[in-house]
Amino acid sequence: MNVLNKKSVEDIAVTGKKVLVRCDFNVPLDNGNITSDQRIRAALPTINYLLEQGAALILCSHLGRPKGQVMPEFSLAPVAKRLGELLSAPVVMASDVIGESAKCLAASLKAGEVLLLENVRFEAGETKNCPELSKQFAALADVFVNDAFGSAHRAHSSTTGVANYLPAVCGYLMQKELEYIGGALGNPQRPLVAILGGAKVSDKIGVIENLLGKVDTLIVGGGMAYTFLAAKGNKVGMSLQEKDKYDLALELMAKAGDKLKLPVDHVVTQEFGPDGFNKVVARNEIEESWESLDIGPATRERFAKELQGAGTVIWNGPMGVAEWDAYAQGTIAVANAIVESGALSIIGGGDSAAAIKKLGYSDKVSHVSTGGGASLEFMEGKELPGIACLNDK
Ligand code: 3PG
Repeated sequence: MNVLNKKSVEDIAVTGKKVLVRCDFNVPLDNGNITSDQRIRAALPTINYLLEQGAALILCSHLGRPKGQVMPEFSLAPVAKRLGELLSAPVVMASDVIGESAKCLAASLKAGEVLLLENVRFEAGETKNCPELSKQFAALADVFVNDAFGSAHRAHSSTTGVANYLPAVCGYLMQKELEYIGGALGNPQRPLVAILGGAKVSDKIGVIENLLGKVDTLIVGGGMAYTFLAAKGNKVGMSLQEKDKYDLALELMAKAGDKLKLPVDHVVTQEFGPDGFNKVVARNEIEESWESLDIGPATRERFAKELQGAGTVIWNGPMGVAEWDAYAQGTIAVANAIVESGALSIIGGGDSAAAIKKLGYSDKVSHVSTGGGASLEFMEGKELPGIACLNDK
């Protein structure tokens, strides 16, 4: 599959047509309030383009995992409200996914109008990629646009199945994600440096394996680094580690050779919490009852040096427990070094993206991905069903 060869909204006539747009409006909610509207904003270029072209828009998305049940706490109503504010135009909300309300509202929808269906996961067939449900989605519209990069790794009715029954193209967000991440992996400006963090090696095995064949340098920090260090026989104390992954870690290190860079010092504590006493120790000096919650200053410097002169940087996962200020310094140092490197920079994963946002760097990096699981699977080199199903140019 050549992901860069997929048709986009600009390759298909949409004027006067009804267009079903799958978005990823799976936004974080706190008591019904949207705490980040990044995914809604990210869908605006496609929505605005289609409206300018004189299409009638039927938007759909999942929110959370209601497992085929109608659960009011997973209603997309807050999204309809926020989207209406961002568009400065009314967004009509159907009270169901594919029932009478959705069908009637879709049938009477006019050019320039926007309808949002209820959470597609209120339908049990959605996550089973049920052909009947896919056909019902298709019957609402003339064209299918998939702009839900964050859900592209899901083979569901509204992300994939529906493409069997309508002309199917990608939206601008999907295209942008494919161009940035696909470009970085396929034809990067070198040196290509990847920085991986986060808690577990097991979450990122596929990514590490795929990236090792492509990158010039692979920096590993965060909790996952301790499985590598422990596998090499280093003392890691109580630091996070996956003992059943030692063999795999040894194998990956042998394959990586000099490409792989691990922390050389650590910020350690005996109290897992934001305010406990902590100190800096060298690589092999974490005592038994201590655990590392961040990379140390020497590591920050070393990693920053690796980033100097990089042509392309891919970053996924924090270097420590970045939500606590005392252990955010490694993550902040990496974010600073990425911005200072001037490299084409792609940020994936919620925690790295949150760090970039908190530091006010969202405009200083090239691309912050809206995909969590999807960007990881893309970086693993896996075929994403929500992209594979779209029409080739
Ligand atoms: C995400 O938030 O990563 C996407 O919206 C996919 O959600 P899911 O993991 O529930 O399919």
